[in-house]
Amino acid sequence: MRAIVTTANGDVRAMKVQERPDPVPGKGEVLVRVKAAGLNFADILARQGLYPDGPPKPCVMGYEVSGIVESVGDGVDPNWIGKPVIAMTRFNGQAELLAVLSAQVFEKPDSLTFEEAAAIPVNYLTAWALLVTMGGLKKDEAVLIHNAGGGVGLAALDIAKHIGATTFGTASASKHSFLKQRGLDYAIDYRNQDWLPVLMDLTSGRGVELVIDPLGGNNWKKSYRALRATGRLGMFGMSVASASGIRGKLGALKAVAQMPRFNPLALINRNRSVFGLNLGHMWGEGEKVAAWTQEIMRGVAEGWIRPHVDRTFPFDQIAEAHRYIEDRKNIGKVVLVP
Ligand SMILES: NC(=O)c1ccc[n+]([C@@H]2O[C@H](COP(=O)([O-])OP(=O)(O)OC[C@H]3O[C@@H](n4cnc5c(N)ncnc54)[C@H](OP(=O)(O)O)[C@@H]3O)[C@@H](O)[C@H]2O)c1
Repeated sequence: MRAIVTTANGDVRAMKVQERPDPVPGKGEVLVRVKAAGLNFADILARQGLYPDGPPKPCVMGYEVSGIVESVGDGVDPNWIGKPVIAMTRFNGQAELLAVLSAQVFEKPDSLTFEEAAAIPVNYLTAWALLVTMGGLKKDEAVLIHNAGGGVGLAALDIAKHIGATTFGTASASKHSFLKQRGLDYAIDYRNQDWLPVLMDLTSGRGVELVIDPLGGNNWKKSYRALRATGRLGMFGMSVASASGIRGKLGALKAVAQMPRFNPLALINRNRSVFGLNLGHMWGEGEKVAAWTQEIMRGVAEGWIRPHVDRTFPFDQIAEAHRYIEDRKNIGKVVLVP
């Protein structure tokens, strides 16, 4: 089979399409013929050498695919064979074939294309955990979604709109009109101005009840300051560090040095809370993830979960796909097709 291999830390030239042996489904696994695979910011960070959770290189990245079950291993119901599915996987998804535990596979809704289906797991599970499970967002509350034009950002917007919260989002100005069409109430251009005073003006100085922040570094301090009483800050990434080579390493060091240190007494006295999320560390909690997935699939059926695929790149154009995200051109998801 053909697979996308991250051959080394470096720029987009480190990405190659190579032949690998076809995987064989083991006990409890199904073999999926991949139709589409999600590309995530984590894949970019892994190539840049900034993703501690990534496998040693050379490696095949890929957390999520859609496709058709081709065969099953021991102990798996053969009725899976021929079914269109979505699968979550700890790496190896960006390949023509994937052997994956059947517990990590669920049926693809007919209403979604394969590309849209591959855009669901990482973005929507992350957004669900941040907004619903840990963030406890409610109607009549306000949420600030950083990187609102990215995959997680658009997913969070769908969920926040469904809950009925007021939505604020930071994004490059070129993404604002699309975000407004998707229902964002207030878009803030955070690249040409300091977003915090703009948000405080828009909220008459009160701030918001929830901020979800994948930027990291100094932004976490500012996001904490943006909280209204009873506010929650969810931290889940360090986009600000993204860069190849020494620039990336220095950016990561700077982001770590600028992190806030939270004082329990200040949290008590200000009625605020802070939390972190790493979806990639939820593999031991399959039941929770399955329950979130069911809610998301209910949203697909009811029409309020609307995965947006910005661009699809063939495997052979993996370097262009990485560059597209790195250059901040994507609005929503980038998907790879064999
Ligand atoms: N902890 C978890 O479980 C988890 C799960 C999924 C994602 N994440 C994190 O969440 C963040 C967003 O992920 P995503 O999948 O939504 O990404 P995405 O779809 O690729 O979108 C990323 C967006 O982030 C903005 N951005 C900010 N700084 C950037 C930089 N230095 N380089 C490039 N883009 C930058 C850009 O929007 P603008 O043009 O508007 O600036 C870009 O479009 C990433 O930090 C990712 O690692 C964490």
